[in-house]
Amino acid sequence: MNNLLNKLTCEHVKALTPYESARRLFTASEGQARIWLNANESPTADNYEVRSDLFNRYPDCQPVALLSAYAKYADVNPNQLITTRGADEGIELLIRAFCTPNESSVLICPPTYGMYAISAQTFGVDVKKAPLQSNFSLDLNTIKRFVGQVNLVFLCSPNNPTGTSLPLKDIEAVLKMYEDQAIVVLDEAYIEFNSEQSKQALLTQYPNLVILRTLSKGFALAGIRCGFVISSKDIQQVLMKVIAPYPIADPVAQIAKQALSDSGIKRMQNRVSTLNSYLQDFTQALSHIKQIEIVGSQCGNFVLFRSEHNAELMKYLVNNNILIRDQSKQFLLEKCLRVSIGNANENNQLLALIQAFFSQAEYQKTGNNQSNQETVS
Ligand SMILES: Cc1ncc(COP(=O)(O)O)c(C=O)c1O
Repeated sequence: MNNLLNKLTCEHVKALTPYESARRLFTASEGQARIWLNANESPTADNYEVRSDLFNRYPDCQPVALLSAYAKYADVNPNQLITTRGADEGIELLIRAFCTPNESSVLICPPTYGMYAISAQTFGVDVKKAPLQSNFSLDLNTIKRFVGQVNLVFLCSPNNPTGTSLPLKDIEAVLKMYEDQAIVVLDEAYIEFNSEQSKQALLTQYPNLVILRTLSKGFALAGIRCGFVISSKDIQQVLMKVIAPYPIADPVAQIAKQALSDSGIKRMQNRVSTLNSYLQDFTQALSHIKQIEIVGSQCGNFVLFRSEHNAELMKYLVNNNILIRDQSKQFLLEKCLRVSIGNANENNQLLALIQAFFSQAEYQKTGNNQSNQETVS
């Protein structure tokens, strides 16, 4: 069997490592209350009703009522939309539709969301990099150097994990330089936390623009896996050639429709405004800890910070049943950790633990002195 697998497994797949959930860090403390602040999820869930009378049938590939509801919310035409199993499936469909394995490349701007590169590698597509500048703005000169070499350019705004939002003029500059050359994919997974910043109005002007959206963040529905790709009708039709026949399970469509009703949207907006104020307070409190330097901005539902003692702090928090996200391996983010904003109680517990950690004698001396915040928006 091993020989057979060795012979059959694609070379680019051999080089990959399976996805490993950060939840494994908690296996040692089984059974205890835990606080998850590692995946930019919502700390609260809403109630939904699900009817089972159509569960004997396959669902619509693209449930019409769901598309209409999202089109209304996003102020686009339903024929500019497809709905997917989370924004992650949108990323995958774009790569499958527009890149040829072992031939095409995509461009990413690290530090950024990891799935652009992972999805590309899974399909044998090369990943080129135009790293962000030290203030996390786009390096337009480097991005320009890849014109003609890549089929997709991934931009993320608000960007995970830096929390920074891209200015309109930079996005337009990329759209113009790649006009007739590549599709520019703007990932707006966190747009509900920064809604006035949506660049969706650019769709009418730039046919090479695609916007990714999700119900996982502001809408607090990471568990149902529902996202959207907004584009021109022409791009939408290409994506429909590669999508699975039944990507959206019937219960998912039912729940998503309720979330996108007028009352669902109101509930989302209330939650987002509460979380935004928690995020502000939490960031403010962190910035008073002298061993911590706040990094980037807070346009999403998370805050990034640097500490000389990042590894020890991470371990201390895990031992105290709080999971945050280590970002220290990312370009420009040495010694950085990312915290998703939780409910008031979770944020207070985390803050108290971080304060307790730094009050230990061995961590008293070092500070991260410099000016605290860099804002790119
Ligand atoms: C920037 C960004 N895009 C997309 C996703 C994935 O979204 P979904 O849950 O819809 O697949 C995430 C999840 O963390 C993200 O941070």
